[in-house]
Amino acid sequence: MFPMAFIMLFAAILALFLHLLLTKKYSSCSTCSLPPGDLGIPVIGQTFSLIHALRSNTDDQWFRARIKNYGPVSKMSVLGSRTVLLAGPAANHFIFTNESLALTQTRALRALLGRSILTLKGDELKQVRSALQGYLRPDMVRKYVGTMDEEVKRQIKLNWFGRDRVTVLPLARRLTLGIICSVVLGQEAATIVEAHAADFQLLGDAILSFPVNIPFTRFGKGMRSSAKIRKAITRIARKREESLLQDGHAVSSTDFITYMFNLHSKGAHSLTLEDIVDNVMGIIIGAHGTTSALITFMIRHLTIEPDVLAKIIEEQDEIADNKGTEDVLTWEDVSRMKYTWKAAMETLRTVPPVFGSFRTATKDINYQGYHIPKGWKVFAAQSITHLDSRFFKDPTKFDPSRFEKRSSIPPYSFMPFGGGPRMCPGTEFSRVETMVAMHYLVTQFRWKLCYHDETYKKDPKPSPVFGLPVELELRRPPSTDDAWNALYVHSG
Ligand code: HEM
Ligand SMILES: *[C@@H]1O[C@H](CO)[C@@H](O)[C@H](O)[C@H]1NC(C)=O
Repeated sequence: MFPMAFIMLFAAILALFLHLLLTKKYSSCSTCSLPPGDLGIPVIGQTFSLIHALRSNTDDQWFRARIKNYGPVSKMSVLGSRTVLLAGPAANHFIFTNESLALTQTRALRALLGRSILTLKGDELKQVRSALQGYLRPDMVRKYVGTMDEEVKRQIKLNWFGRDRVTVLPLARRLTLGIICSVVLGQEAATIVEAHAADFQLLGDAILSFPVNIPFTRFGKGMRSSAKIRKAITRIARKREESLLQDGHAVSSTDFITYMFNLHSKGAHSLTLEDIVDNVMGIIIGAHGTTSALITFMIRHLTIEPDVLAKIIEEQDEIADNKGTEDVLTWEDVSRMKYTWKAAMETLRTVPPVFGSFRTATKDINYQGYHIPKGWKVFAAQSITHLDSRFFKDPTKFDPSRFEKRSSIPPYSFMPFGGGPRMCPGTEFSRVETMVAMHYLVTQFRWKLCYHDETYKKDPKPSPVFGLPVELELRRPPSTDDAWNALYVHSG
């Protein structure tokens, strides 16, 4: 009998100890308790259920069901972390601006993207963030319009022209990868894009994966691709460094590597060549999957919204009619594309490329009477406010005119680019490249969906299940180039 009593005593002491430990840990607010909500199976929690909802594009219903059950602050467990799900504009404000929350850095992110803006902290983060914001600020983006225009025209001739059927998603990815690489890498971009387009895809896919580094997993493939890309970009960075050392002064190039070396020589940051390479990778990953999702879904929406398309065609044709076919678009042209940009914003509202944002509590937080322990994650999904009829009347309707009066949209309810100190620095860049791409696609082609009821999944970026195959018809030839004209005449 003695051992049994001993075990019971031991269990009682253990229980008391755990009780003290837990209540002690959560004593920063005597009246606060953890948010409601079940945590599911240990470790796994709601991970598979949420991933399944994203893949079947029912994530918005999934979030709404939890909010209905537990209220606007609830706990869950995803990707191995205790996570508080928050809903509403005030919650968005809290997530994007509160100083006790930090951008969540996963092990996968650190392994794949090294010391990039997404994984740095403190002073280094400040230096990189300010350099990147400088490189992407509107008056700098103006200088990139010509490069964007050239790359869009090049790819349209190569991949769209002369075909009567194309699959939009892979071509949009190729397009935005080509654009960001030709701006941040300069001359060598084309070779990188040709050799590593598939690697960028695998690297992007691995970011939200479990960090198990064996060859056939998403993460393992991502790691191998990351190494190949890093090697190729390092070679370019060495070349830039050499030519800067030889010339001894700044070359008038717009690439990001030269820009960072110049800032370094002015003492604006302390990044090494390796750190700069990691940040080039971070920018390319942040830039191309997001903007290609926007372009893909804009094309998809325009096929089912003939009135919106007609207005866009009118706006774009007018710009095209006032230029020679060999002229490049200018920033002034882009700023005249007002209605087209409203349609892009409506696309970002209904199908946000980034489904939500994760933060990590850097200390114990008392939020609206609930305790959020240090180390827990906090999460907000964009669709929760984007598709709420209190903020957007008739929320499933595609209606660009809602953006006519920006003041009618409540603050912190439209968040496609996030907000606060970590807000997307590429907002202006993505606006300009999307407008340049849409200009040529709309003025040169008409398109029809091959599958009328093609659905889409979030993986986690929204992607049509078949990649959006469309039938293409030519409206205008891509340039006055004789060879192309001859082709056009023959096909017409
Ligand atoms: C339609 C296109 C785009 C969308 C919807 C988008 C969305 C976002 C969002 C929501 C965030 C913040 C995530 C968070 O706070 O949790 C973000 C961050 C970021 N984006 Fe974008 N983005 C787009 C295009 C771009 C482009 C074109 C670039 C670069 C040229 C870029 C570079 C970045 C970078 C570097 C960050 C991280 C900033 C930081 O950690 O401080 N993005 N983006
Ligand atoms: C951050 O959130 C906490 C908890 O809700 C709040 O007490 C604090 O005032 C917030 N800080 C700012 C700057 O809003």
